[in-house]
Amino acid sequence: AIDGAVFFEKTPGDDVMGMILENTDKVDPRDYDIAFSALPSSVAKDVEARFAKYIPVFSTASAYRYEDDVPVLVPEVNSGHVKLVDAQRANRGWRGFVVPGPNCTTVGLVVSLKPIFDAFGVKTVRMVSMQSLSGAGEKGLRADSPYRKKVEMNVYPWIEGEEEKVVKETNKLLGKLVDGRVVEAGIDVHATCTRVYVDRVHTEVVDVVTERPATLEGIRAALEEFRSEPQELDLPTNAAWPIMVLDDVDMPQP
Ligand SMILES: NC(=O)c1ccc[n+]([C@@H]2O[C@H](COP(=O)([O-])OP(=O)(O)OC[C@H]3O[C@@H](n4cnc5c(N)ncnc54)[C@H](OP(=O)(O)O)[C@@H]3O)[C@@H](O)[C@H]2O)c1
Repeated sequence: AIDGAVFFEKTPGDDVMGMILENTDKVDPRDYDIAFSALPSSVAKDVEARFAKYIPVFSTASAYRYEDDVPVLVPEVNSGHVKLVDAQRANRGWRGFVVPGPNCTTVGLVVSLKPIFDAFGVKTVRMVSMQSLSGAGEKGLRADSPYRKKVEMNVYPWIEGEEEKVVKETNKLLGKLVDGRVVEAGIDVHATCTRVYVDRVHTEVVDVVTERPATLEGIRAALEEFRSEPQELDLPTNAAWPIMVLDDVDMPQP
């Protein structure tokens, strides 16, 4: 087993066990073409900057999400924001860059909102999330973790910083790039985020007030017909359509 690994129930296969683990302090980014970072944000700020000086860094951490020259990217929603990378390189003197993805609850929300936003405009969003334990990382999934015990057979209504992230990131992602900066979408977003005793997959209940009149059929068509740049590019690991509309009375379920 890997020293300190507490997460796997079984020893992983050779593809994982054969990987070389190195302390990030000892890694010279110039030896690599690209970096994927899944670090706690407190650590990501320094480590990602050190790498971005030389190579592109794609990150799950929130460390850089709210900086003006950093796009938070969801390819189905705002691929045009990638142009911010030029400003980022110029501002910081980096040869690489940092491009973070959004918070895990925001990603599903913005993909679902995007077709409605484009077709009808969006004034107000009220969302309640039921987020799985996987969203808390290792501490959510490890059987003996105190955090998991708190959520066991429970609904736990406190995910630090999550509601603020949903508000900020939704407006940044649906914002427009004007003169090299993102003008936020100006949506009045209200978020209540809870952790539930489900291992994987977040579920959300979302009320939307549109700017222009919308019918149920119109919303349904906008969601079902939605295709975006990843579909146009026919990327190999991409879903053929980003949104599925389900009619069963007991769906969706995680
Ligand atoms: N889980 C999700 O669904 C999700 C979704 C979106 C974004 N994020 C973000 O993605 C990041 C990772 O989340 P996670 O859920 O994967 O967390 P996690 O399970 O707690 O994993 C964090 C990892 O970072 C490593 N680490 C900590 N300090 C380090 C350092 N100084 N140098 C190198 N590695 C270090 C940890 O290694 P050790 O175990 O050896 O300490 C651990 O493997 C966080 O910023 C989180 O907010 C997570």
